[in-house]
Amino acid sequence: MTEIEQEILRRRTFAIISHPDAGKTTLTEKLLLFGGAIHVAGAVKSNKIKKTATSDWMEIEKQRGISVATSVMGFEYDSYKINILDTPGHQDFAEDTFRTLTAVDSVIIVVDVAKGVEAQTRKLMEVCRMRKTPVMIFVNKMDRLGKNPFDLLDELEAELGIAVRPLSWPINQGQEFKGVYNIYQQKLDLYKPSKQTVTESVEFDDVNNPELEKYIGESNAFQLRDDIRIIDGIYNPFDKDTYLKGNLAPVFFGSALNNFGVKELLDCFVKIAPTPRPTKTEERIVRPEEESFSGFIFKIHANMDPNHRSCIAFLKICSGKFERNVNYKHVRFGKMLKFSAPTAFMAQKKSVVDEAYPGDIIGLPDTGNFKIGDTLTGGEDLHFKGIPSFSPEMFKYIENEDPMKSKQLHKGIDQLMDEGVAQRFTNQFNGRKIIGTVGQLQFEVIQYRLEHEYNALCRWEPINLYKACWIESDNSEELDNFKKRKYQYMATDKDGRDVFMADSEYVLRMARNDFKDIRFHFSSEF
Ligand code: G4P
Repeated sequence: MTEIEQEILRRRTFAIISHPDAGKTTLTEKLLLFGGAIHVAGAVKSNKIKKTATSDWMEIEKQRGISVATSVMGFEYDSYKINILDTPGHQDFAEDTFRTLTAVDSVIIVVDVAKGVEAQTRKLMEVCRMRKTPVMIFVNKMDRLGKNPFDLLDELEAELGIAVRPLSWPINQGQEFKGVYNIYQQKLDLYKPSKQTVTESVEFDDVNNPELEKYIGESNAFQLRDDIRIIDGIYNPFDKDTYLKGNLAPVFFGSALNNFGVKELLDCFVKIAPTPRPTKTEERIVRPEEESFSGFIFKIHANMDPNHRSCIAFLKICSGKFERNVNYKHVRFGKMLKFSAPTAFMAQKKSVVDEAYPGDIIGLPDTGNFKIGDTLTGGEDLHFKGIPSFSPEMFKYIENEDPMKSKQLHKGIDQLMDEGVAQRFTNQFNGRKIIGTVGQLQFEVIQYRLEHEYNALCRWEPINLYKACWIESDNSEELDNFKKRKYQYMATDKDGRDVFMADSEYVLRMARNDFKDIRFHFSSEF
């Protein structure tokens, strides 16, 4: 086995996603504790944005700034190298999360047992489904009263659109929570509320063993046996291949706050979660074990300090070995670049790294060379696919407030869009620029940054739009007819693709009805 193959086999790169408050930060922290990356609970400076500060975006940006180091958390566990990619908690930065999901090989979804599947989880799962990303589910807060676990499993299947298979099963909940039966490892994990200790486990390969009563009492034992019988009746045995294809989500139950069920999740995760997967490019499929290096930029984090307008571009390594001070081809520029200070994110520290392997994320200090989606290679012209844009939720016209500064404004908008702060569309009818975002906050961020970093003033003007739809058709005549009919609503995106800006759900429905040969997509890749 080559050195690269060995390194690939031990890598697991994933993201934890959840609706705010389900317990993502707490779970991340506990995983880091197991990896020895931190030594006390409470050490994670999370990407979580304090609820009280939601209207104060400067504060949010500051917190995001702090969290650059925690954007990626690498640590060693057993013989594995684990990379957790953090995702912003605030929903206005959901676009950032979508892109982060393009750089992971699998996902852990955290669900609150009382709240079940919530809005943001549903949306993020759509991206996973689209990309066939394998997902695992952790049902959190079992120390609190919540939904009946069978009902919750049905809800997960229906709401997330994926088959599920419990690999652990809770014994009661809330104050009466006794622990879980670990179906995957065939043991009984007994619960004791505590923030730091590790679970007490008993080997238990058969719940019919009369010893069960001794540990969890008669009625709990009765219930557990009944539940396990039902589970075996309803669900097929867990099948790793179906999980790896993105069609089956194993489910674990626990309490992140009490460090319960977390190690069990991690132990199963490292065994079954995928190693870095092959990546699609426009030219061909790139396999991680190829000798020649390649990778793509999926995130750019700007420094908010106007005196140091530097960024960190986050690069996911897709194949080969990355080495410091070696020349690599920036495919869009067609020129060679080398990096003297690439950083790796180990534990919670950022440090200069000499080499990195597929699955790893490195930070490249950048002064405007990179756009989201850019490719670096050993020399080959490759263009990675799968960093789609999603239809924004909110739209506004952006107008120049200071005619003397129009150059600055255009440069500023171009750079902010390259960084992925928001999306820009150009209306084909009047040439006006439309900015689309996921939340109101981004408009404020853009206005502030244009003023402070580019010395340009902008003004927002309302526009009533519902969705941006990327359109395609094999029937070019119909496509032309549609564009003529809707000329006032046609725009182009950053890559010059045709986008129909639908102003209401009704209009879109009518358009779908009238133009049967046209496909309307809410994302730029289909
Ligand atoms: P997030 O990153 O998904 O937004 O969630 P986070 O981990 O911050 O958790 C949200 C809240 O839920 C926190 O409480 C956290 O302590 C609590 N929590 C997490 N896991 C569990 C669990 O297993 N059981 C119970 N009962 N609570 C849990 P908070 O009061 O908002 O914050 P804090 O003051 O405790 O930090």
